[in-house]
Amino acid sequence: MTDRRPAAVIILAAGEGKRMHSSTPKVLHAVAGRSLIGHVLEAASAVDPVHVVVVVGHGRDRVLAHVEEIAPWADTVVQEEQRGTGHAVRIAMSALVSEHALPSGPVIVLSGDTPLLTGDTVEALVEAHHSSGAAATLLSAVLADPSGYGRVVRDAHGSVAAIVEHRDADEATRLIDEINAGMYVFDSEDLLPALERIGTNNDQGEEYLTDVIGILRAQSQPVAALLVPDSHEILGVNDRVQLAEAAALMRDRINDRWMRAGVSMLDPSSTWIDVDVDLEADVTLLPQTSLLGPTSVGSMARIGPGTTLTSCEVGEGAVVIHTWANLAVIGPRASVGPFSYLRPGARIGEEAKVGAFVEMKNAELGDGAKVPHLSYVGDAEIGAGANIGAATIFVNYDGQEKHRAVVGRHARVGSDTMIVAPVTIGDGAYTAAGSVVTEDVPPGAMAVGRARQRNIPGWVERKRPGTASAQAAAEHESAPTETTQESKETP
Ligand code: UD1
Ligand code: MG
Repeated sequence: MTDRRPAAVIILAAGEGKRMHSSTPKVLHAVAGRSLIGHVLEAASAVDPVHVVVVVGHGRDRVLAHVEEIAPWADTVVQEEQRGTGHAVRIAMSALVSEHALPSGPVIVLSGDTPLLTGDTVEALVEAHHSSGAAATLLSAVLADPSGYGRVVRDAHGSVAAIVEHRDADEATRLIDEINAGMYVFDSEDLLPALERIGTNNDQGEEYLTDVIGILRAQSQPVAALLVPDSHEILGVNDRVQLAEAAALMRDRINDRWMRAGVSMLDPSSTWIDVDVDLEADVTLLPQTSLLGPTSVGSMARIGPGTTLTSCEVGEGAVVIHTWANLAVIGPRASVGPFSYLRPGARIGEEAKVGAFVEMKNAELGDGAKVPHLSYVGDAEIGAGANIGAATIFVNYDGQEKHRAVVGRHARVGSDTMIVAPVTIGDGAYTAAGSVVTEDVPPGAMAVGRARQRNIPGWVERKRPGTASAQAAAEHESAPTETTQESKETP
């Protein structure tokens, strides 16, 4: 197998992608959380090539930086002017020869804008090349609408004779529905001299890589073609419509794989899972759910509906409803939502609860602790079993700096408490509802930090005479007093 190891994969990515109408270079647009070129690099790695060369041109600074980041092992070569696919491969080959004294073996050429190409197909193409013994093997597809593509012209024996670009093709050739996918395997010894012989005598005045096919045939060297079984794989992204098409196809492919691995989805068409997500069997995903970045979800967890988790870790059996979370950790059997907002550094303990309209950031919620309603929890540590009353705010920002608050184990924070950090509420301590807590509360103490209530009898009758309130008060006074209100006192 080692002698079959491809010498190189060349990925063409110098084109401008005009039809994207974007300030972002085309190959950097993403599908399922990975750039277009990232998908192609991934497919290329399936055949374990000795070298990978990416040809860059338009937006080169950003493309170079991106390739360096995601595939530091890849070589890059700049094509100053886009003089055609043949020219691009020629400069990639000369870079390989001058830098690495190209070892003999097959050279694969791919395009940087075909995110649906699989490693399996690249492997099959290499395999087909070896078994046919051809000088070149191209990937072809039969399309209902072949317009725009280069056509595969076959001779009387059915062998590939040439590729003719759509714009250079006559009527009869345009009727051919077998197209050139733009992905090839060449023997490097045959490719190098053929590239030197490519002309520019075509409608675009460019050096066409496809001319290599005719040149090899003219030298009586055999050319083979592998028909791709699923023509979606060769879909090139040229505009936003094709980008959306590729994203939808990728979504279906990813979702099929997870469903076959034991993940339930109520509505796969509205469920979006990035390539780096990891799910255990028996996860259930409800409609309108997106799992992005390197998110992982444990067994028996239920996510959604209406939930977006980016780079989150969700423990087994957790329930996350209508939530937006980024860089958060949700513990086993915890409950989050509906309408929770978890920001970076939110860590929810085992069986803990974050309820409706709660925002958390850089804060830890201990095992079994609860923040059930309408709260902001920022820069805090909440002990196991604590309960944070509705509408409690962790006041972490003094206008200049952020401060941290600590709430002890099994503490009971009354509703609408303002916890003004830095401050510590001890283990098992209580706070009275509506308190503004600015000083540490010792373990087991009750903190009351609010003005004592004072009732001014008859105020409404004097100050708001004739209003519905005054009327209601008057009626109450004249009514038989069955229920007398006991005044509530804070202990
Ligand atoms: C090419 C093929 C065509 C095939 C089609 C499949 C040629 C002449 N034609 O046509 O037979 O059906 O792909 O999609 O090859 N690129 C460079 N430098 C250049 C020119 C192009 O890097 O100077 C890159 C582009 O960024 C792109 C790829 O090469 O990734 C293909 O180029 P493109 O211009 O899209 O070729 P097509 O006209 O689509
Ligand atoms: Mg193209």
